[in-house]
Amino acid sequence: MTLDPLLQYREQFPILGTTTYLVSNSLGAMPASVPDRLAEYAEQWATRGVRAWAQGWWQMPVAVGDEIAPLLGAGPGEVAMVPTVTMAQAQVLSALDYGGGRDTIVMSELDFPSVRYVYDQLATRLGARIVVVPSHDGVGMDEDALIAAIDERTRLVAISHVLFRSAYVVDVARVCAHAHRMGALVSLDAYHSVGVVPVDVEAIGADFLTGGVLKWLCGGPGGCFLWVRPSVGATVAPALTGWQAHRQPFAFDAEMSYADDAWRWLGGTPVVPALFAATAGPQIIREAGMAAIREKSLRQTTRLIALADARGFKVTAPRDPERRGGTVAFDVPHAREVAQALLAREIIVDYRPGAGIRVAPHFYTTDAELDDAVGAIDEILAREEWARYTHDRPVVT
Ligand SMILES: Cc1ncc(COP(=O)(O)O)c(C=O)c1O
Repeated sequence: MTLDPLLQYREQFPILGTTTYLVSNSLGAMPASVPDRLAEYAEQWATRGVRAWAQGWWQMPVAVGDEIAPLLGAGPGEVAMVPTVTMAQAQVLSALDYGGGRDTIVMSELDFPSVRYVYDQLATRLGARIVVVPSHDGVGMDEDALIAAIDERTRLVAISHVLFRSAYVVDVARVCAHAHRMGALVSLDAYHSVGVVPVDVEAIGADFLTGGVLKWLCGGPGGCFLWVRPSVGATVAPALTGWQAHRQPFAFDAEMSYADDAWRWLGGTPVVPALFAATAGPQIIREAGMAAIREKSLRQTTRLIALADARGFKVTAPRDPERRGGTVAFDVPHAREVAQALLAREIIVDYRPGAGIRVAPHFYTTDAELDDAVGAIDEILAREEWARYTHDRPVVT
């Protein structure tokens, strides 16, 4: 039996004791120390009252960003915590000028719809046009096609690092290099990479990067982050802004005067409780180490693909390990209902139309849990257990 040193972290995640938790691509497991952190927040509110702002709360969006920065290869003071990735991406969009013949934003068909919505709505009002590069198979993105779409009219390339539906890893370094040759900037949505696929903003060459602690970083909702390359951040500022981005917020000036670094990208009053909850997960992940997490993820996703292949399930995850993120989706007969039946057995997965059942092992997952989950699918199909769920509402996880 091979020893898996990452399993030592299991005891720090209570839900692993009661469920087979294979949904960290949606909501990472909560670290056991989070209730203490939230109690600390409540205690400060109760006892310090408004003084808590001056005693740490106001600084939290940047202090917490400093905890995330090492996971991006970024430096201190470069990462701002913001409530959602959608809004962080909208800030990037709002920071650029689309005149002077640079009116084009290049996106891909497989980017997360929420980000597409805000780009579609805002870009037109800012006088920009969006070019959406199609995927040839609905699974991967052809970098040649992306590169062909980036030209002298391109101001911004806004694409995902790892595609949410298929977990396909886009060769973003190649795209960034070409975008820069063309004089364009790149905003990367790295929600599905940070925490499971190593990310290094220098090696990638992106100008902006967004992500969140919700999924692979086990930090809960409300803790999203925006990194801006310092040399780029010094030259642009978001129109979508707020008083926390002001150089002197408590002067209450009528005119905006942008702060430097990560502060420039903040908005209104920070969502303090989310930031208290956000750091335990990233700290554990930093300690566990991204290289070890990636190595294990590749081993376990390979195992899942083999289990699916052996049953003839259609796998919509990339076969090439270099191109595979942390999730394996496979389509089984009656996939939506089978996912419901798995949930009833405390095997937590999710279902997405077009992808099937998504299984997302993380550093705390045992190999036996993967075998058991697929074994449970066999049983659910053989015993027609799925039929009980035909009339249920869709799975929401
Ligand atoms: C790749 C990707 N981008 C953006 C989002 C949306 O993020 P938010 O809800 O923080 O706006 C998600 C949510 O799952 C996602 O998977």
